[in-house]
Amino acid sequence: MRVVVIGAAGYVGGELLRLLVQHPEVTDLEATSRSQAGKTLGEVHPALARVGSARFSGESPAEASRGADVVFLSLEHGESSKLMGDIVDAGPGLVIDLAADFRIHDGRLHERYYGAHPAAALVHRFRYGLADVAGTALRGATAIAAPGCFATATQLALYPLRNAPLVSEPAAVGITGSSGAGVHPKPTTHHPARAHNVFAYSVLGHRHEAEVAEQWRAWSGRADAVPRLLTHSGPFVRGIYLTLHAHLSEPAGQAVIEQAAADYRDRPFVRLVGSPPELTHVVGSNDALVYLTTSPDRREVVVISAIDNLVKGAGGQAVQAMNLALGLPETAGLGGLAAYPI
Ligand SMILES: NC(=O)c1ccc[n+]([C@@H]2O[C@H](COP(=O)([O-])OP(=O)(O)OC[C@H]3O[C@@H](n4cnc5c(N)ncnc54)[C@H](OP(=O)(O)O)[C@@H]3O)[C@@H](O)[C@H]2O)c1
Repeated sequence: MRVVVIGAAGYVGGELLRLLVQHPEVTDLEATSRSQAGKTLGEVHPALARVGSARFSGESPAEASRGADVVFLSLEHGESSKLMGDIVDAGPGLVIDLAADFRIHDGRLHERYYGAHPAAALVHRFRYGLADVAGTALRGATAIAAPGCFATATQLALYPLRNAPLVSEPAAVGITGSSGAGVHPKPTTHHPARAHNVFAYSVLGHRHEAEVAEQWRAWSGRADAVPRLLTHSGPFVRGIYLTLHAHLSEPAGQAVIEQAAADYRDRPFVRLVGSPPELTHVVGSNDALVYLTTSPDRREVVVISAIDNLVKGAGGQAVQAMNLALGLPETAGLGGLAAYPI
């Protein structure tokens, strides 16, 4: 299978390469970069030094996509919209975009969080790739928008609540590591600003709320519902830890816990755990740890999720979606265990 990663010099691109070089069906892997063309993969991503002398290509995204079975795009927000028309015209079998450009089908919702869409006519081609919920429904997809990292952690916690008698929309509080902000340093991601520090950002308006809201509306049947996502930066590199709290109008907490057990029973990467998870138990793996509990009166539910933002929240989930779309074993290439302690 010939697979291309466009924008492979970034953190998500590096993670895709790390997983794809270990994937049993990937025989031909091309990595493109504007800034790193000609360098070996290991010069840019040191963890890949052992995989040989393969080099970044400077081919244009459209050239690289011609004849490819699968094309991944891991570009800064907005770049995929500029390139997607040419990539689609090049006719690859499957396109998976890791950016937010094609995640939201509701134009008004997209506009509220991201502004006017520069390639709105292409959005309908994309299926939302929340792999652990969509499962085999992704089979046959030719274009997939991989969910955001915070959006993934939020939705895996929210999904079991979709039929619950809620007093109000749930709110989730999450904290992310610095790799969520990409490879290029910024004032808020610089080590002295992040180490030994915690701060909230995008309060009452984080962009991932848009995709969470769109999926939640479809699951719950409540138009206009917006679950709140309150995001924080934490003093670590990888991972998202998220706690969701909901009030119920009836004592239905145990039913939510049972719903989660049914939803995730056969899902290979979601593990329901009996006590609050720890972030380091997932780092490096495609696992999502989910913990649910309810108050003694069964009118409150807390759901906690822990994921690696670059694996389950990006490259790993995208490879899982590829496997599902192509009818490959869902876990192919994704067997890596978490590295603990880290
Ligand atoms: N980091 C995360 O935890 C995470 C999780 C889920 C989703 N995402 C999403 O995934 C995307 C990538 O994130 P990231 O953290 O990997 O960002 P990043 O580290 O900043 O990397 C983005 C890469 O895109 C490349 N690029 C941009 N425009 C290009 C173009 N026109 N042609 C070719 N390459 C281009 C750049 O490579 P060159 O220097 O070679 O141009 C850059 O290295 C973003 O949209 C992000 O929102 C990130």
